[in-house]
Order: sequence, then structure tokens, then C-alpha cells
Amino acid sequence: MSHQPIAVAEDKDPLRMLLRFHGELRRTLKDLHTLARIDDGARRQAEAIRLYAVLAHDVPRHDLDEEVSLLPRLGRVKGPERLTRMIRTCRGMHESIEEELDQALPVLRALTQGIAPIEPGVIEHMATRLDGLLVPHLRLEEEEIFPHARLLLDAATLETMGEEMLRRRADKQRGHARAVEIYAEPPL
Ligand SMILES: [Fe+2]
Ligand SMILES: [Fe+2]
Repeated sequence: MSHQPIAVAEDKDPLRMLLRFHGELRRTLKDLHTLARIDDGARRQAEAIRLYAVLAHDVPRHDLDEEVSLLPRLGRVKGPERLTRMIRTCRGMHESIEEELDQALPVLRALTQGIAPIEPGVIEHMATRLDGLLVPHLRLEEEEIFPHARLLLDAATLETMGEEMLRRRADKQRGHARAVEIYAEPPL
């Protein structure tokens, strides 16, 4: 592996953007554990709406950033043999996370609509299962995938990646409009 000069502007640096979201996701998981213990119904509902937006909208966009903008580019450069295996593992983890979210999101969505009662144990179980999948996944990306990307992808490639990711964020307006529609739906 050879070190590449990092000439990509900090605000367009895709790996920094991905890492920033990992921080947000860790905070979201922590808050999911405490959600069930919020006694005040209106506050619990507001918190559920905030957490739902991260898990239902920001996580899929983050996965898209990695699946479409990062991993194929990293897979095409010449790297160590184990990198190919780690990319495959990373993709498999994304699938498992999405499957788990398919189970978890309807529960959280019910909470966004103020539907009661949902047993605190159900939310705790959901948070624990998500932790079990996401914590090792974030570690793999932070300790292996992103450092290899930093070493192996040149500045022009990183810049293109960053631009793709910023374009996805420009669609945020549309994403939020959809989220508002979901929250406006009558209770299930
Ligand atoms: Fe990921
Ligand atoms: Fe990630």
C-alpha cells in the first residue's frame, strides 16, 4: 500500500462525513435504550420521531453512501487479499442491519404516532439487537474499511465520492417531506 496525498477539502471529505454519521448513530442507539424510560407521553413521542428519522432515513442513505460510493471503488483498487473479504463481510452486515430495521421500524413508528402501550422491554430488546449488529459493523468500518480507503483511494476519487454524497444530502428536502407525510398518517 502507498500513502496518497490528501488534497480533498475537509467539508467534502467523504470519509469524515461517514465517520461523523457513525457518531450520530452511536448517540441514536444510546438514546433508543432510554426511550422506554421517558414517562411523559408527549416527550416520548417527540423523541421517537427524532430517532425514527435517523433510523428510517439517515441510515439507509448512509448505507447507500457506502454501498454505491465507497465499497465498489475500494473493491476496484489493488489492496491486500483480506480487504476483499472485509468488503464482502461489510456488505453482508448491511443486509442484516436492513433486515433488523425492517423488524424494528414498525415498533418505533407506532411510538411516533403515540400509540400505547408498548412494553418497555420490547424497545429495550430492539435497541439491544440493533447494538449487536451495529457496534461490530461500525468497528469494522472504522478500523479496517475507512483506513484502507484513506490509503488506497486517490484525492480525485475521494472528491468524486464526496460530491456524490453531497448530492444525496441535497435530496434531504424530499426525504423530510416524506417523513412528515408518514408522521401525519392516522394511527395504525
Ligand atoms: Fe456500513
Ligand atoms: Fe458506516
